[in-house]
Amino acid sequence: MRCSIRKCFIQSVGIVFLWLFITLKIPKETEDDQNEASYNSRKDPRPLEDWQNLTFKYMEKIQKRRKTWLTVGISSVQQGDRSSLLYTLVSLFRVSSKAEQKHLTVLVHLADSDLTWLRETVAHISSLFSPQILKGQLLMIHAPSDAYPTVDSVRDEAFCGEFYSKQNVDHAFLMSFATKLSDYFLLIEDNAFFAPNFVTHIHSRVNTMKSNSWVLLEFSNMGFLGKLFHSRDLPLLAHFLLLFYKEKPLDSLISHFRMLLVQESPILCKPFLFYRRVSYTTFDHKQKATALQKKNADGPNNPPGAVFTDMQVSDVHFPWEAYTLDESFFWTHNLSTGNHLTVILNHPANLSRVQVITGSIVDGRYALEKGQVELGYEPEGVPQHCTSFALLGHLLEGQMDQEIYLKGMGYHVSCVRLVVTAGQAGGLMIRHIYLWEKNHK
Ligand SMILES: *[C@@H]1O[C@H](CO)[C@@H](O)[C@H](O)[C@H]1NC(C)=O
Ligand SMILES: *[C@@H]1O[C@H](CO)[C@@H](O)[C@H](O)[C@H]1NC(C)=O
Repeated sequence: MRCSIRKCFIQSVGIVFLWLFITLKIPKETEDDQNEASYNSRKDPRPLEDWQNLTFKYMEKIQKRRKTWLTVGISSVQQGDRSSLLYTLVSLFRVSSKAEQKHLTVLVHLADSDLTWLRETVAHISSLFSPQILKGQLLMIHAPSDAYPTVDSVRDEAFCGEFYSKQNVDHAFLMSFATKLSDYFLLIEDNAFFAPNFVTHIHSRVNTMKSNSWVLLEFSNMGFLGKLFHSRDLPLLAHFLLLFYKEKPLDSLISHFRMLLVQESPILCKPFLFYRRVSYTTFDHKQKATALQKKNADGPNNPPGAVFTDMQVSDVHFPWEAYTLDESFFWTHNLSTGNHLTVILNHPANLSRVQVITGSIVDGRYALEKGQVELGYEPEGVPQHCTSFALLGHLLEGQMDQEIYLKGMGYHVSCVRLVVTAGQAGGLMIRHIYLWEKNHK
């Protein structure tokens, strides 16, 4: 049995490699088969028209596979943080149930020409996801560099749009390839978190939208993360991206496309189902980046505890997500004075610093306008609650970050409580509660 699993695994790696090299070779073969007309277009320095032909020709081979309801598309290039794509895939498959996975295809475009990177990434992904690859749930593609009509000119011209130009073309290829895989296409960035059962949430959202026509549903307000399209629009979108790839970054081109297809305003679907993972290399909040890099030295360590709240709980972002060290968060809405979110520690701890952040990273929306942070002591009862509290600080612009100087205050803390001091309508995002223990290694 062991042996056959092993064999199976090696085979799956083999399949993917084969795939990769078939893809790499395809333009040549296609070139030979092409009729006069499209052959001429290959001589054109920008053979845009060939794109669809190339993709569709290749697609014939796998079009016989079952069509799913949703394709999640990710394009990834080599970056500082190698593992973000892997984490994204792990998160994706972890939060979706077996039943959901049946309706799901995941398409990954490895859009980097570095062969070592390609080989290593394919090997990593195959070792983690061989069952999904064998079931055809996870597809990996790579566009050969001569399918990039403009890659040389992109490289030659040192204009500042260089990065997004390539990104636009990468995504055009991804979308073109995804067209026939499913009914809907969800665009994701390669550093994302997924809310549990996101497929079901998107499905019910799409059902409620049945009577209204839409081009783009947005399940995140960041970049091009969490954008849902009808797959039937993808060829047009891919073409659009190829026409204007030099003009604007991908997210603006997508908004333009939405308006072209006469959906005038964005449709934001809340609570958001996708969120960006902090990239240690690019995150601009220095303090936090440093804190996370040195997780074992200066970073928060959040001793084990349970999280309770009397705020409204949705089934997407749970209260405990405010007390994790990753970028997940708790989403709630319509608060009243006195509402609280309380962390009860399993054991009293000596704290040196407490940080509470609410609101979205990008624009600070959904922050708690009036609130305070309290430390609690002397827990009692079942379930436990703290019998005395001391005010640590008030939130300013939805945030509080304090070192605890008063010695007595930070000792034997059993509860950390965020209290709402003025009612607030609308959504609230509690990003995190970070605790630092004294002398914690
Ligand atoms: C929040 O309150 C507003 C008005 O008070 C109401 O219209 C809205 O439906 C409430 N939202 C939720 C999700 O309960
Ligand atoms: C907290 O500090 C007090 C006083 O220094 C010490 O007695 C106690 O052991 C410390 N507790 C923890 C959990 O480190």
